[in-house]
Amino acid sequence: MTARIGNHYFSTRPGVRSHPTQVRATLRGRAWTFITDRGVFARRGVDAGTRLLVEAMRIAPADLVLDIGCGYGPVGLVAASLAPQGRAVLIDVNARAVELAAQNAQLNGLGNVEVLQGDGCGPVAGRLFDTAVTNPPIRTGKATLRRLVRDIWQHLRPGGRFYFVARTAQGARTLARDVTEVFGTVREMERKSGYRVYEAVKSGDS
Ligand SMILES: C[S@@+](CC[C@H](N)C(=O)[O-])C[C@H]1O[C@@H](n2cnc3c(N)ncnc32)[C@H](O)[C@@H]1O
Repeated sequence: MTARIGNHYFSTRPGVRSHPTQVRATLRGRAWTFITDRGVFARRGVDAGTRLLVEAMRIAPADLVLDIGCGYGPVGLVAASLAPQGRAVLIDVNARAVELAAQNAQLNGLGNVEVLQGDGCGPVAGRLFDTAVTNPPIRTGKATLRRLVRDIWQHLRPGGRFYFVARTAQGARTLARDVTEVFGTVREMERKSGYRVYEAVKSGDS
C-alpha cells in the first residue's frame, strides 16, 4: 500500500501531532469509553450518523462481522459486543485509527476483535463474513466508494447483510443506488437528522 501522509481523516498516517483524549457514549444501551485523537474521524465524540447506524444494525450472537473504515472503533466494537460467540474484524487505512480501535477493544473488555490496517477488504482477502458494516469514507469520492461496495459484496457469504449510513446531503441516495446495482436490492431502515441507514442482503442461501 502506498503510504500517504496528510491531514485528512483517511490519510494512511495523519500529519497532525498525536493528542489523545477520551470520549464517552451510550450505544445499544451500554456505556462506552473511546480513546480518540487528532487526525481521526469524529475525535470529539461519536458521530450522529455512526450512532444511527449502530442503533439500527442487526447483529446475531455468532456473527462474523466486518467493519470497513472502523476509525477508532465505535461501529465494529459495538458489533463485537452484540456477537459474543462471533467475532468482529475492523479495518482502516489510517494507522492511528487502527491503533486506537485496538486500544478501545481492550479498554471496553472485548476479546473477540481483530483490528487490521489496509485498504478496503485487502487485509481479509479470501475470508467470508455474515455481516458487513460501514460509515463509509464519503470524502474519498464515488470511484472509491463503488470499489469498496463491490469489495464488501465479495466478502459476504450468500445471505450476508450489509449495513451502511450516509448523510442525505452527501449522496446517501446515490450510494444506495450504487449498492443496489451490486446487491440487487437495498432497504432504507432509518432516516433521522439528515442521515439515512440502509440494509442490503446478498442473495443466496443463508
Ligand atoms: C466516516 S469515517 C468512519 C469512522 C468510524 N467507523 C466511525 O463511525 O466513527 C470513515 C473511515 O474510513 C477510513 N477509510 C478511508 N478510506 C479507506 C479505505 N480505502 N479502506 C479502509 N478504510 C478507509 C477512514 O480513515 C475513516 O476512518
